[in-house]
Amino acid sequence: MGKFILGVIVTVLVIILCGLGFAMLGYFPTPANVAPPRWEHRLANTAVDASMERHAPHITNPIPPTDQNLEDGMKLYSMNCALCHGDLDRKPASLSKSFYPPAPNLVSDPPDDPEWHVFYTIRTGVRYTGMPSWEKTLSEQDMWKIASLLSHMEKLPPAVQDYWKTTFGVAAPTGEEGK
Ligand code: HEC
Repeated sequence: MGKFILGVIVTVLVIILCGLGFAMLGYFPTPANVAPPRWEHRLANTAVDASMERHAPHITNPIPPTDQNLEDGMKLYSMNCALCHGDLDRKPASLSKSFYPPAPNLVSDPPDDPEWHVFYTIRTGVRYTGMPSWEKTLSEQDMWKIASLLSHMEKLPPAVQDYWKTTFGVAAPTGEEGK
């Protein structure tokens, strides 16, 4: 039994040392100008989702999705998020492909996660990616307004769709395009 436990400890130590050596000797790839392999993308996304599920408070959006709040969300999104995630005029984001992992286009492909999940992503950011934490920059209310916009992106009330069209010169997404 004693030998077995010693064997386990030595094996674990060897694995840790190999991992440290791999990192310290420069074998970890760090460039951001390549696309992540599919397995890495899937593994990382599953880990992020599981972490959100565990850490994010499962709370209801305190901001009701009124026309005014959704329009405020559009302005906030356009000013703070469009650079990386694509603007409401539907032009692709200038920086989206420059990140590792790339920043998804949230206008053509809005998140289908619950609002508390989207809010938590905005508030805390995503470690080791280009997604910043916004809690020092935006108020709680404003983050909820953006989460609300993202969750209602493809089912906006008619008045907000009109506002979108007049402000950004293109129709609001309906989720039907390209399907
Ligand atoms: C500097 C670039 C940058 C800015 C600005 C930025 N993001 Fe991100 N964001 C990213 C990147 C890169 C990712 C991908 C992270 C990942 O794959 O885990 C991301 C991921 C996300 C996700 C998760 C998407 C998913 O697939 O579930 C959401 C939601 C999000 N951002 C919302 C926002 C909002 C809202 C704003 C504005 C308040 C914003 N981001 C501003 C770079 C940015």
